[in-house]
Amino acid sequence: MADLRTRYLGMELRSPLVASSSPLTGTLDGLRRLEAAGAGAVVLPYFSSLTNLAGQLVEAGADGLVLFNRFYQPDLDIEAMAVRPALTLSSSTELGLPLRWIAILHRRHRVSLAASSGVHTASDVLKVVLAGADVAMMTSALLRYGPDHLRPLEVQVRDWMDGHGVQTVDQLRGRLSQRSVPDPAAFERANYIKTLASHPASGRVLPEVPSDGTGTRSG
Ligand SMILES: Cc1cc2nc3c(=O)[nH]c(=O)nc-3n(C[C@H](O)[C@H](O)[C@H](O)COP(=O)(O)O)c2cc1C
Repeated sequence: MADLRTRYLGMELRSPLVASSSPLTGTLDGLRRLEAAGAGAVVLPYFSSLTNLAGQLVEAGADGLVLFNRFYQPDLDIEAMAVRPALTLSSSTELGLPLRWIAILHRRHRVSLAASSGVHTASDVLKVVLAGADVAMMTSALLRYGPDHLRPLEVQVRDWMDGHGVQTVDQLRGRLSQRSVPDPAAFERANYIKTLASHPASGRVLPEVPSDGTGTRSG
């Protein structure tokens, strides 16, 4: 039988299968069930120190932060035992991560904030500025539609601003940042955990991965 043991952070794990941070890893019972099911390790939830890291970067002299770069992600061909180049462009669904952190970091430190990953549409641009970004960075959208994508985007952003009586980008910036909204907790991890905990999948394993282990979702 194949030996699945591996090493991670200096520890020997029984397999490379790790249960990542979720409500399942947030209780002793959940941890015991994951261990019994063969998890090589679990990642405990409730850790987030990006705010602290941002402060340290600013102290070290950073004038601007980009949240977040999306690294090139090649695939592996497990039959050919080779690296398969893969160019996966982003979509607007990836905007959530930069949006949240921009909103949290806005005016927390004296630093410019750039949103990157998932900015495709005029709404995306408006959202990141409302969260507190100084600029909205785009790569995938420009690769997919070409540089001319910028023209309609600019028109749509302007139209939205005109329609909402907003004259300058400065007036928009940060209006929906964590400091500005009536419910700052909406950006907090505790809220995320609460939302996940109330999800029907919380506390049980969904039968999403078929027994052939291909990882293809059935529904
Ligand atoms: C084809 C391609 C090449 C990229 N090259 C670089 C690069 O050389 N250096 C870098 O820091 N990021 C690079 N990126 C990442 C982008 O700058 C950006 O962080 C990422 O694509 C997320 O933004 P998006 O959602 O607008 O695509 C590249 C992305 C793509 C798709």
